[in-house]
Amino acid sequence: MYTEIVKIIEGGLVNDKEKVINYATVLANNLEKQGDISLAKKIRSTLIQKKGALTALDSFATKPVDAESRMDIVEVSYPQVDAAQIVLSKYTQEAIYNFIESYNRRDVLLKSGFDASNSLLLYGPPGCGKTTVAQFISSITGLPLVTARLDGLVSSLLGSTAKNIRKIFDYASRRECILFLDEFDVVAKLRDDKNELGELKRVVNSLIQNIDTFSSDSILIAATNHQELLDPAIWRRFTTVITLDRPQKEEIKQLLFVILNGKSTNFLAVPKKLDFIEAALVGLSHSDIKTIIFNAMRGVILSDRDCLTNCDVLKEIYFHRNHTVEDEDELIKYLMENGATHKEINESMKIPLRKIQGISKNVDRKEP
Ligand SMILES: Nc1ncnc2c1ncn2[C@@H]1O[C@H](COP(=O)(O)OP(=O)(O)OP(=O)(O)O)[C@@H](O)[C@H]1O
Ligand SMILES: [Mg+2]
Repeated sequence: MYTEIVKIIEGGLVNDKEKVINYATVLANNLEKQGDISLAKKIRSTLIQKKGALTALDSFATKPVDAESRMDIVEVSYPQVDAAQIVLSKYTQEAIYNFIESYNRRDVLLKSGFDASNSLLLYGPPGCGKTTVAQFISSITGLPLVTARLDGLVSSLLGSTAKNIRKIFDYASRRECILFLDEFDVVAKLRDDKNELGELKRVVNSLIQNIDTFSSDSILIAATNHQELLDPAIWRRFTTVITLDRPQKEEIKQLLFVILNGKSTNFLAVPKKLDFIEAALVGLSHSDIKTIIFNAMRGVILSDRDCLTNCDVLKEIYFHRNHTVEDEDELIKYLMENGATHKEINESMKIPLRKIQGISKNVDRKEP
């Protein structure tokens, strides 16, 4: 039995799927003979489920390249994204699960005379989860994620964009997958350049034709920051449109709990402090909030402390919004306005209490 295990490992390391399958089958047979029926069954069902994924690696082996730059125009990945790490509003979450359900149960829909919804347009400001949601749908459906960044394509040789789009769709048609067209608005931006109107028309037509003939067993996802720029004819092709917006207070709170899971803080369990921090983060993207918290955490670790404080976070928010601290008094005022006590500021910034008290006289304390 150990021989089989070693052979399977060898096969896996050199990407020899035949070897993996053959020795795993032998292993299952031997286990069965020895009475370990349940493990044998498990190995066989894994083989059945994963055979598709193994062949997938082959059918995706030769990627399409841009004729001029010889660069790959797609990337293939098998992301693993945990649902618990993504923070979305209730309705957005529902819309995403409905989309996945509609794809998974497309046979039922087809029987009733309805097309499944397999094209999704994700729209929203940078850093609010477009790429993350595409990766999540890939990990939950088990479909490989074929990502094409359209901005890269369009900057290539004039006239070759439509050809590249064709190549991408041909490649994606080799097997069931998620074709993810990132930076989708770049196609619309071609319109800005008067000399390239002909090119724009060709690209739009090519996209429409390819979307219309795209396999209903695969999923098409496009992401854009500028939904309004999209050509209405393309826009209509997407049966589901989901907006991924900046988080509101409730989602900010959830995000803080996700990011700071297991970390020691002086504010997560203190509603008033937490309220001030949430309010100070309103208007920022998920990505900005993550960056702010990670920067604050770095500061804590580098100063050999173990507890992240409200002052650490507020200071980072202040830097993020102003990019500099020209006047330390202004920063101290900002901390006080956002609920930091004199003692907390004194400990965090090593500023004498007397100075803090002096500044405090001019501070208009607000509610979060
Ligand atoms: N809804 C969310 N919940 C949790 N984390 C998020 C969420 N949205 C974004 N993030 C985090 O922010 C970072 C950037 O997110 P992502 O790349 O998905 O944004 P995007 O909308 O695709 O941005 P861009 O328009 O710049 O491509 C990632 O690290 C991701 O984990
Ligand atoms: Mg993105």
